Amino acid sequence: MKHLLSIKDLSKKEILDFIKLGIKIKKNPKKYHNSLYEKVLLTFFQMPSLRTELSFDAAMFTMGGEVIDYHSETSPWAKGKESIEDVAKVMSRYCDAVMIRMHDHNEFLKFAKNSSIPVINGLTSFEHPVQILGDLMTILEKKKKLKGLKIAYLGDSNNNVTHSLMFACQKLGIKMSVACPNKKEFYPDKGVVKYCKSVKITSNVEEAVKDSDVVYTDSWMSYKIPKSQHNRRAKTLRNFQVNSKVMKLAKKAIFMHCLPALRGEEVTKDVIDGKQSVVFDQAENRKWIEMAVLLRLIKR
Ligand code: NVA
Repeated sequence: MKHLLSIKDLSKKEILDFIKLGIKIKKNPKKYHNSLYEKVLLTFFQMPSLRTELSFDAAMFTMGGEVIDYHSETSPWAKGKESIEDVAKVMSRYCDAVMIRMHDHNEFLKFAKNSSIPVINGLTSFEHPVQILGDLMTILEKKKKLKGLKIAYLGDSNNNVTHSLMFACQKLGIKMSVACPNKKEFYPDKGVVKYCKSVKITSNVEEAVKDSDVVYTDSWMSYKIPKSQHNRRAKTLRNFQVNSKVMKLAKKAIFMHCLPALRGEEVTKDVIDGKQSVVFDQAENRKWIEMAVLLRLIKR
């Protein structure tokens, strides 16, 4: 594997290998403290970030490597003065790998095609693979298995996190139900739906959540959504909020959220700050899984 662009590109074996390595590293991080010595990761951001920026930085530093953080606002590319192809060719000359967060998935793929160093998707509007690899690690830690579990995802589903989670469930034989409004704006991408035949999509929350082991939601106001859309979207998505009534339907489920969260919108405070919530374990596991991804992609 040269790049990590999409969960769809990974085999079941590759996904499980990342998770197992992430767990191994978490148990004994000292063993890896020099494994990326003198290696340089460039992180390239077009959008804000808390977890992705800090966890990749921490992952590289923990393995003895270095990071160059580059925010695109002032770049010639953001000003329309340089092509993404040339940006990729130039960046490839300075570093050993690049992690990118950008809106347009096709522009991101163009970058990868022109890069001679490994490229990692740190979120596009279409997918968020490192988030989902870390989440699978969290689920395995909490539930002690992956196969045979049921995940219910509620809310805005025309969404990078939903898409990556759907691909992962399809590949690993995890049952998944998505509950969202039956409108294109909130519905998963058609191509993803077609590929993920095992994933059920419904507008019935009760049906989606019943007997699930995991209840997952994401912000109704992803980075790509302008503020002006807030009230209209919140009104349409109101019935898909994760609250204590929903969690009761699922019985023993853990609650997951990739963060950032808006309490009182996609999830109530009592759920996200309650006993079933594992959101900060998810955030932590981003670092361990990213160490596994970097180790596999940056060859010494
Ligand atoms: N769907 C969210 C994920 C944030 C980690 C967004 O794109 O903003």
